[in-house]
Amino acid sequence: MTVKIDPQTAELAKTSFIHDPRAGDKSKVMLTKALGSRVWDETGREYLDFTAQAWSNNLGANDPRVVEAAIAQLREITHARPNFNTPVLLELTALLRSISPGDLNRIGYCLHGSSAVEMAMKLALKNRPSAKHILVLQDAYHGRSVTTMAASWPHPKDPFHAISPTFHRVPHPDAYRPRLGMSIEQEVELCLSLMEDTITKGVDGGVAAIMVEPIMGNGGHIVHPKSYHQGLRDICDRHGILLIWDEIQSGFGRTGEMFAADYYGIQPDIMTFGKGVGGGFPLAGIFASDKLDEFESGEDQLTFGHFPVAMAAAVACVKAIIEDDLCANARRLGDFATQRLGEMSERRKLIGDVRGPALFVSCELVKDRTTKEPATKAASEVYRRGVERGVLYGESRYLGLGNLIKIKPPLDCTQQDMAHALDVFDEILGELEAENIA
Ligand SMILES: Cc1ncc(COP(=O)(O)O)c(C=O)c1O
Repeated sequence: MTVKIDPQTAELAKTSFIHDPRAGDKSKVMLTKALGSRVWDETGREYLDFTAQAWSNNLGANDPRVVEAAIAQLREITHARPNFNTPVLLELTALLRSISPGDLNRIGYCLHGSSAVEMAMKLALKNRPSAKHILVLQDAYHGRSVTTMAASWPHPKDPFHAISPTFHRVPHPDAYRPRLGMSIEQEVELCLSLMEDTITKGVDGGVAAIMVEPIMGNGGHIVHPKSYHQGLRDICDRHGILLIWDEIQSGFGRTGEMFAADYYGIQPDIMTFGKGVGGGFPLAGIFASDKLDEFESGEDQLTFGHFPVAMAAAVACVKAIIEDDLCANARRLGDFATQRLGEMSERRKLIGDVRGPALFVSCELVKDRTTKEPATKAASEVYRRGVERGVLYGESRYLGLGNLIKIKPPLDCTQQDMAHALDVFDEILGELEAENIA
């Protein structure tokens, strides 16, 4: 289907607040339709969407079950204040409780991941009233509100710094870029001891929470060993500190388990969720342990914090993830992808490292495998040439590493589509090597 957009309207895109450096560039695609792992532009051209938009269509786009549930809800009630109940709020809560790890049975809702992270921090501060610090990891990404930006890696030229609260960013282990040639076990030991030193000597006053992404997403797809997460859990228990896991990106099947907490077999005290839960509708929130005090009325109440349409979509989406066993598909397809990328790396020297798990797939492109200097130009070219060939790859443009290619389609993607996306990637890397672009 072709959608006609006159040139004057197209110009308007440049005035949008979500204008990005690629606007006006041919690689900025105008989306008019989406279904499953595919999207279409205004000329009717089809693309494989291996970004799942913001790694957020865990269930393929516009799944009919989600669309029907949202339409049915629209006919009943679209807006309810958080201090009222709706049947769909209760249905979703029961469903989420049935899949939440351990005693994470209290659920709070909002519309965006950044607000969910703020809700998690507020709950931690409420439960540790004498403590005012929250420790986060260097390279973390927790969102784009003023507070969550301050909790993330330092944003270049951050104009919001003047009103940012203070967080303490603590080093974390990195298996691909270990410090001083240490083994990952030594890195884990060092970083855990730095974390404990920060708690005992690095801050004035108590620490309410340590907040981490179980698998670091936007800060470089860094996967920590279980021993590191277990170490953080033990430190929290020793010091009476709450452990917050930000599962906004890792939740709802992306790691091949429903949550990264299941993947690692470790339970945080508070866990955020967002992205994949709503089947494309905005929804986020937190799971909190039964042992924590809850918010009192007015402490966390947002006008649209209870959005029945997104909740109906989420009920359909989460049921579909369970019924279609998309965790198993994510594991199977992720293994296929990482294995193919591993084989490719024997021929394509640009590939420095291949990472999983499941459909949290990425590879780092490097100019040289010994120095591991990021091949940032090659990464943007993969994105650009992918668009030309009808495949949308994820590309990291964040601090430090702009060299990551992310392969994160919806979890119901087929092996045929995955094989095609990898063949195109292989072809593009071949061209870049021939043209000496890194
Ligand atoms: C781990 C993590 N936390 C928080 C967020 C922020 O979510 P949102 O963009 O919905 O505010 C993101 C988004 O990428 C994320 O990956």
